[in-house]
Amino acid sequence: MTVQHTLSILKPDVTRRNLTGKINAKIEDAGLRIIAQKRLWLTRAQAEGFYAVHAERSFFGDLCEFMTTGPVVAQVLEGNDAIAKYREIMGATNPANAAEGTIRKEFAESIEANSVHGSDSAENAASEISYFFSRMEIVG
Ligand code: RTP
Ligand code: MG
Repeated sequence: MTVQHTLSILKPDVTRRNLTGKINAKIEDAGLRIIAQKRLWLTRAQAEGFYAVHAERSFFGDLCEFMTTGPVVAQVLEGNDAIAKYREIMGATNPANAAEGTIRKEFAESIEANSVHGSDSAENAASEISYFFSRMEIVG
């Protein structure tokens, strides 16, 4: 077991429906610690910068548009195998395929408005965390 950090984003469908606390409870119940957190409203340029890896995908424009429709909550999560653990409790990208008990099964509205983002590798976690947080804002 390795202690890792991962970047989580609660997407605009979560803040719109006032579900931040319910999702944070799921995160904490899974043994992950929220060691940094801030609410912000992304600009189009900030959303495009964050999702630059998906720039060539057909859904890129719609995804960046959706991510600017309301506030998001960016978080750093800490825990044993935090990257894979968070992906596990998030559930599949498309909520129709997400397992029972996962965040997306319980809360996601659609494949696009799917409530949460989680980093998918150690390398991406490091770059995504530094996209949103300075070292001083991460209090483990
Ligand atoms: P995320 O990056 O948000 O944690 O989600 P993920 O790894 O499960 O999915 P990814 O393939 O990285 O896609 C990023 C986000 O793009 C939206 N998406 N829309 N309309 C579509 O076919 C489609 N496919 C993906 C989702 O919001 C997904 O989370
Ligand atoms: Mg992804």
